[in-house]
Order: sequence, then structure tokens, then C-alpha cells
Amino acid sequence: MGQDAFMEPFSSTVGVFQCKIYLLLLGTCSGLTVTVPSHTVHGIRGQALYLPVHYGFHTLASDIQIIWLFERPHSMPKYLLGSVNKSVVPDLEYQHKFTMMPPNASLLINPLQFTDEGSYIVKVNIQGKGTLSASQKIQVTVDDPVTKPVVQIHPSSGAVEYVENMTLTCLVEGGTRLVYQWLKNGRPLYTSSTYSFSLQNNTLHITPVTKGDIGNYSCLVKNPVSELESDIIMPTIYYGPYGLRVDSDKGLKVGEVFTIDLGEAILFDCSADSYPPNTYSWIRRADNTTYIIKHGPRLEVASEKVTQKTTNYVCCAYNNVTGRQDETHFTVIITSVGLEKLAQKGKSLSPLASITGISVFLIVSMSLLLLWKKYQPYKVIKQKLEGRPETEYRKAHTFSGHEDALDDFGIYEFVAFPDASGVPRMSNSPIPASDGISGHNLHSTIYEVIQHIPAEQQDHAE
Ligand SMILES: *[C@@H]1O[C@H](CO)[C@@H](O)[C@H](O)[C@H]1NC(C)=O
Ligand SMILES: *[C@@H]1O[C@H](CO)[C@@H](O)[C@H](O)[C@H]1NC(C)=O
Ligand SMILES: *[C@@H]1O[C@H](CO)[C@@H](O)[C@H](O)[C@H]1NC(C)=O
Ligand SMILES: *[C@@H]1O[C@H](CO)[C@@H](O)[C@H](O)[C@H]1NC(C)=O
Ligand SMILES: *[C@@H]1O[C@H](CO)[C@@H](O)[C@H](O)[C@H]1NC(C)=O
Ligand SMILES: *[C@@H]1O[C@H](CO)[C@@H](O)[C@H](O)[C@H]1NC(C)=O
Ligand SMILES: *[C@@H]1O[C@H](CO)[C@@H](O)[C@H](O)[C@H]1NC(C)=O
Repeated sequence: MGQDAFMEPFSSTVGVFQCKIYLLLLGTCSGLTVTVPSHTVHGIRGQALYLPVHYGFHTLASDIQIIWLFERPHSMPKYLLGSVNKSVVPDLEYQHKFTMMPPNASLLINPLQFTDEGSYIVKVNIQGKGTLSASQKIQVTVDDPVTKPVVQIHPSSGAVEYVENMTLTCLVEGGTRLVYQWLKNGRPLYTSSTYSFSLQNNTLHITPVTKGDIGNYSCLVKNPVSELESDIIMPTIYYGPYGLRVDSDKGLKVGEVFTIDLGEAILFDCSADSYPPNTYSWIRRADNTTYIIKHGPRLEVASEKVTQKTTNYVCCAYNNVTGRQDETHFTVIITSVGLEKLAQKGKSLSPLASITGISVFLIVSMSLLLLWKKYQPYKVIKQKLEGRPETEYRKAHTFSGHEDALDDFGIYEFVAFPDASGVPRMSNSPIPASDGISGHNLHSTIYEVIQHIPAEQQDHAE
């Protein structure tokens, strides 16, 4: 209605007709309407402020008078300026501050000061056959814009959850009528069992801190003319360990039992949620004793190195700031699934083919062995025994000389030679079992057996 009510001040041809409509619609018709877009205007100190006013009337007018008054609580209204037709008469005290361009009734205040805060009253008088009068009041506030807030956190080094409290303080250098609001991850915070605010809301207390309080905090400061948000601050909260668990790169996990195949190496990974990161230690439990075997989040277990087939382990996670720790127990079972696999592989071939293959292999091996024995003097064996480094020899004996023992399962290398008297082999023979044999039968035949069999079988052999 504000726009509709405004009419060319000195025209009145359609005015009477419009007045009839106002009479019908509103029930009142003074013939003069004065409107303002807003009854409250917020100004910034030091800047110009424009107070827009519209007016319209529906009568023949000779004089149009506009008067501006200023009113503050508990004080007398002050005359600012007035006009008749196009001539303005200001109060000389304020003449440089207030401007009006009649017949436009809007007022410009420049520059705006805190003392200009109050009510501005505009009165329009139309002199025609009688005098029509209407007025409006505009509330003006004057503020300094806010400057960017800064959040201070105490203690700045961080707080341990459930033990310590944290206080966030919002600091603002400039601005009037400040209203503070705390945001966490962009959403407003309200008073709760752990959150409380100071009277002005410029301080947020978290008592006590918990892991759930980790987030992006900011302080939003508003006033009628501006609002600014602080940079995001992330409080340091020490917590954990929580959710300790052990995972492996391979192997079968059922509950806390890991099953791995013989010959496989498995990598265990211990993880728990905590800040600062946990320190991890691994413990192996055998019989009634425990050994700390490693520090760090990862543990590799090579099945060859495991003396027992079932081994119990513990992973310990310790947070050295919260002082809390957690541990999880698990069992590693080493299975001979490899042997079963081999058996299955055998089955998958036709039995006749397997037997034929094995037979042919044995015959060829024996033939080769005989031929080799016949044409190779014992010198070769001597050379072999002396030349082979002890470590390599032991390795061959223990681990079958290959990484995958399955490939060599059941294959033997059997070497015999009739006279050992000339063979100085005792000096570097590393095999206790062989020592026994050779010691008893020094003048008889010496056998050298190299067994290419899995460790399990070997245990029985020894
Ligand atoms: C105002 O303007 C009207 C119409 O133009 C004129 O009749 C009247 O005399 C003027 N009044 C003054 C005070 O100048
Ligand atoms: C009054 O003057 C201002 C500029 O000073 C202008 O923006 C506004 O539209 C004018 N109002 C009317 C009713 O002409
Ligand atoms: C944390 O605040 C609570 C309640 O105000 C108080 O009882 C407690 O002592 C404070 N804890 C610390 C470590 O200051
Ligand atoms: C917190 O802010 C960082 C970037 O400043 C962002 O990566 C992260 O996702 C935010 N966290 C939340 C919970 O909004
Ligand atoms: C403080 O914030 C709460 C909401 O979080 C609000 O209800 C209250 O009015 C605010 N107080 C002040 C003084 O701003
Ligand atoms: C383990 O300790 C218990 C009692 O502490 C004892 O009875 C048992 O014999 C011990 N076992 C071994 C293998 O040492
Ligand atoms: C806590 O452990 C970390 C390693 O995770 C280490 O860097 C830090 O110095 C330790 N702090 C204390 C107080 O022991």
C-alpha cells in the first residue's frame, strides 16, 4: 500500500476517486497518507543515513508543509527542519546535518552520531479547502560495526576427556550492542549438561570435555548493522583408546582366532581410536610366561618361526596422555591345510597318472643317483660337505632349501659311499644325528641324507 498511497503531490484529478476506494477498503480517508518503509532504521556511526518517506493526498492543495522533529526518551522533542512548498527552513543549530529536498519528504542525516539515536517524527500538512495533517515516527539506532571476533581457548594445550574442563572465550575489539553466539560445526550451541555460557554468552564452558566435544567451534557476533564469525577453532581433546581391534592381511579370522596355513607369513595390525595416537606393544603368551615381543602397531608372524602350533598373543594399546590402556587377546593357529591341499591336488589327477608319475620319477631319480655315484668319485661328496657353508647346510636341513616346503614334500636325496676313512668330514659337520652315526661306524659306510620334507614331518624324524 506504501507505493500505491504515494501520488504526485500537486495532482488531484484522480485523487477523489482513489479516496473513495480507500474509504471502501480501509474505512478511513483523511485525504492524506504518509508512509515509511520501515519504522526502525539501523544506522552506522559516521555514515549518512537516509530516512525515506512517501505521502499522497486527494485534494486541491495550495501549500504543502513538511516538518521533521527529533525526540529522545525523557527529553523535549526538537525541531530539525521544515519546509513550505519548496523552501526549507532548518533549525540553525543542525542545519549542516539534516537535508530535505521538498516536495520529497525524505530526510538525510549526515554524518550519523550516537547522539542522533532516537525517534524521528515527520509531519505533513496540506493546505487546501481545509488543512489535512498526517505524521509518522521512525526509530533510529546508531551502532559501530563489529570487528572480527577471535576465540581464545583455555587450556590451549588441550584437555583430557572426563578429567579436565575447557573454556572458550570470544574476544571482539570493536562494535556496539554485541550479541554472541557459539557454533559447533556451523550449528548453534545451547545450554546442556556439559555446555554453559557466561551472562553475555561470550564465554563457553565445557565441563568436562569428552571425545564428542571435538569439532569446529566458532563464535558469531552480531549487532543491528553487522555480523562476523571468528575463524574456526578445534580444541585439542585427549581421549582413548577406544575400539581396540586386531586385523590381519590374510588368514581366516573367527572371533579372536586366526587360522593360517603352514608356511605362510601373516601381518597383524592393531588399531584403536585415541588421541594422541596409542603406543602399541605385542605380547606372546606361552605357558605361564609372557614376553613383550614388539612395540608398534604391526606384528608379522612367520609360521616357520612359531614353535607351537597354537600361540596366544595380546596387543596392548596405551595412551600416554590419558594414561588409559586397553588390550585384546587373540590366538593364532597354524594349520597343515597345505598338506590337505596337496592331497586334493593328487586326487584331482587320475590316480593311475599320479602313480605312474611318481613311479617314473622315482625310477629316473634312482637311475640318475646310481649313474652319478658310479661316475662321480667321493671327491665330489667331500667337496660338497666341505664346500657348503655351515649356515647354508643347516638351512637346507631345516627349511628344505625352498621357501615353499610343499614342493619338495617326500623327496629325498640319499647318498652313500663305501669308505669314509679318507674323508675328513667331522670338522665341519653340523648335524648331531649324523655325528652319532658316524661316530659309531667310523670305518663303515657313511650315509648322507638330505631330507626335503616339511618341518612338521621333520620333527617326527628327529
Ligand atoms: C505553494 O505553491 C502553491 C501552488 O504552486 C501556491 O499557490 C502557494 O502560494 C505556495 N505557497 C508558498 C508559501 O509559497
Ligand atoms: C526522494 O529523494 C531520494 C533521493 O534523495 C530518492 O531516492 C527518492 O526516490 C525520492 N522520493 C520520492 C518520493 O521522490
Ligand atoms: C571442572 O568443572 C567442574 C564444575 O565446574 C569442577 O567441579 C571441576 O573441579 C573442574 N575440573 C577441573 C580439572 O578444573
Ligand atoms: C572441520 O573443519 C575442517 C576444515 O577446517 C574439515 O575438514 C572438517 O570436516 C570439519 N569437521 C566437521 C565435523 O565439520
Ligand atoms: C545466550 O544464548 C542463549 C541461547 O544459546 C539465548 O537464549 C540467550 O538469550 C543469550 N543471552 C544473551 C545475553 O545474548
Ligand atoms: C602355570 O601356573 C599354574 C599355577 O600358577 C601351575 O599350576 C601350572 O603348572 C603352570 N603351568 C606351567 C606349564 O608352568
Ligand atoms: C607419548 O607417546 C608419543 C608417541 O606416541 C611420544 O611422542 C610422546 O613423547 C609421549 N609423551 C609422553 C608424555 O610420554
